[in-house]
Amino acid sequence: MTDILILGGTGKTGRRLATILRDQGHSVRTAARSGADVSFDWDDPASRTAALQGADRVYLVPPALRLDHAPLVGAFLDEAVAAGVRHVTFLSAGGVQFAPPEAALRAIELMLVGRDDITHTILRPSWFLQNLTEGFMAPMIAEGTLALPAGDGAEAFIDAEDIAAVAAATLVDPAAHAGREYNLTGPEAITHAELAARISAATGREVRYVDADRAAWIEGVQGAGVPADYAELLAGLFDVIRDGHGSRPTGDVEAVLGRRARGVEAFVTAAAASAAWGPSATPA
Ligand SMILES: NC(=O)c1ccc[n+]([C@@H]2O[C@H](COP(=O)([O-])OP(=O)(O)OC[C@H]3O[C@@H](n4cnc5c(N)ncnc54)[C@H](OP(=O)(O)O)[C@@H]3O)[C@@H](O)[C@H]2O)c1
Repeated sequence: MTDILILGGTGKTGRRLATILRDQGHSVRTAARSGADVSFDWDDPASRTAALQGADRVYLVPPALRLDHAPLVGAFLDEAVAAGVRHVTFLSAGGVQFAPPEAALRAIELMLVGRDDITHTILRPSWFLQNLTEGFMAPMIAEGTLALPAGDGAEAFIDAEDIAAVAAATLVDPAAHAGREYNLTGPEAITHAELAARISAATGREVRYVDADRAAWIEGVQGAGVPADYAELLAGLFDVIRDGHGSRPTGDVEAVLGRRARGVEAFVTAAAASAAWGPSATPA
């Protein structure tokens, strides 16, 4: 039996991908710095060998909060091919196809496109809904104020369950998805104010959206431990939304899965019911 190696295997998409593949009976190995099947650190080249042992397909999640990782990924791909990996599904991000070639995620996309010793699939998801429950927005929701420099621009937020389901399809049948690029979104684009309103309705507790001052927001996230260059990158992503160029619904989730992408409503209802943001004021 061959292994599917899942980098970022404890993260928002990797964890869900592992569950889907295991439920389907596939042999899976999760990798991360802690809490995964195998200990893997992008900064420790020696950890690549154990992670890649026996793997023939890889879900590639680059190291978090970094912009300098393309060379690390290049070295990883060389070793992966030598170890027998034949397909990589790469978690990129929405809009990366328009980024300059030297931007880290675009550089990795181009690296994969340029290789003929391995097949690839590129996933470009919009902002994850799970940022609201598992990511940096969760404490804001719990405190009742979603403060982001996103203006009143809209975004087609996606449920990480859908990203994981698409990733699973590509890893189970790589030949059917080789060379494909999927721009993955939820079924509707909404503003952060609307998002906050829906969370308020689901929880029965007021959550306000505040259009945060850009410079103050960058300072705030840096204070929370985000490196300066990455904080600037995140602010740039909110600029895109603010300027009206946030993601718009695509049909790519449905094209791969044969069903519609999950919506915001279902997500916030389930999150409120599971008390992800603390007890609801009104039972969901
Ligand atoms: N979140 C979004 O809305 C969004 C939207 C579009 C694209 N993306 C892309 O999705 C990717 C994942 O982002 P995320 O913020 O959602 O994170 P995540 O997948 O929830 O968590 C990151 C995962 O990577 C592992 N990891 C982090 N640094 C590592 C390192 N140095 N070596 C080995 N493993 C490491 C983490 O485990 P350990 O910390 O235990 O190592 C964890 O499993 C990013 O590349 C991002 O650009 C995210």
